[in-house]
Amino acid sequence: MYTPRFSKQSQALHSADADVWAVSDRAHELADKGEDVIFLCVGDPNFDTPEPILDYARARLGVGRTHYSPAAGELVLRRAIADIESKVSPHPCDPDDVVVFPGGTNAIYGVLSCLLNPGEQIIIPEPMYIGYVPITDALQLEVKKVACPADQGFAFDIETIKQAISDETRVVMINTPVNPTGAMATPEQLRDLAAHCRERNIWLISDEMYSMITFARRHTSLRAAAEHLDNVVVIDGLSKSHAMSGWRLGWAVAQGDLVERLIEYAGATIFGVPQFVQEAAAFALEFDTYFVKQMRDAYEKRRDLIVERVNNIPGLNCSSPEAGMFVMVDVSDVAKDGDAFAEALLDAERVSVLPGKPFGPSAVNHVRLTLAADEAELSRALDRIERFVTGGCRKVS
Ligand SMILES: Cc1ncc(COP(=O)(O)O)c(C=O)c1O
Repeated sequence: MYTPRFSKQSQALHSADADVWAVSDRAHELADKGEDVIFLCVGDPNFDTPEPILDYARARLGVGRTHYSPAAGELVLRRAIADIESKVSPHPCDPDDVVVFPGGTNAIYGVLSCLLNPGEQIIIPEPMYIGYVPITDALQLEVKKVACPADQGFAFDIETIKQAISDETRVVMINTPVNPTGAMATPEQLRDLAAHCRERNIWLISDEMYSMITFARRHTSLRAAAEHLDNVVVIDGLSKSHAMSGWRLGWAVAQGDLVERLIEYAGATIFGVPQFVQEAAAFALEFDTYFVKQMRDAYEKRRDLIVERVNNIPGLNCSSPEAGMFVMVDVSDVAKDGDAFAEALLDAERVSVLPGKPFGPSAVNHVRLTLAADEAELSRALDRIERFVTGGCRKVS
């Protein structure tokens, strides 16, 4: 009999914790059986990609832009990305500093692949994006998590991150604005951390996937804040800001030898993102002011709606996130933890929210609600959540 044997990398991915989407998977099963389930668990924008971008992509398909593209990415797109970076930064960005990937996930995978060997240490503040886990598992990295505690509003604590750095640390990776908390690093914090990491000969990566979805103040890129750029990498993309999650378009901005390494990685693994997708992305970045603002305004209204409604439900509370597509709700007064709350809420009211635990120990008593649902849907969900909490389901075991 043939016994299939797999790589350590595949094994690491295979044995990874599959509980993350347990509530959501059950919610889908219920919906498949015809139940009226409201999904507040995903971070996929519920807007369509704006029509002008679709038209442009169709036009580029029509002129045969369906062939191989350069591993680094098409110049027209790298130029558009470099222009954006240059506009918000004292450091001019050259198109040759940019490498295009099929989505933010692949950009992160590529950057970490180039910077770390299996067994080496990366520091990541938590709560952190769930999607980092399979990547760090696959690359067999040692992840040292640094807490951003709930009672401090999940704010970045740069001193704690600095203290966590040791001779073992190769990379620090932050995410600003943060999925799931919406916390944003200040320019001073970014500058300070970049300088400290440089002094320690450590890379600092900033995942800025939500850079264009900020409410009270503008996002500051690590690249804009840092004094020196040789140890910093910025990752961004169009999945969230432009409602283009399915187009798979992300990028990394770096310096010097790392750019060459990333291009080699991209050449070996991707061999070019589709031409028409890249050209539509360049178009999107050049003509996006109106629709990015429209979507951001809608997210802000939804955030305000959730925050007001949640804080009027006795036993629940949340603070108002500065950015991003999510609201973290503290359920510790009414449930054992976020897991118990999410399970029981789905059972009782058919609302699917994401428990906080997979994001990290600091989020155990929270559940994450998405802003990727329209106001009517959110109101309907919040009616159910209110009924659940006030109607005798308090103190879920
Ligand atoms: C913080 C963060 N980084 C990266 C990604 C991945 O982006 P993409 O969908 O472009 O792969 C996400 C997606 O949810 C995210 O929230």
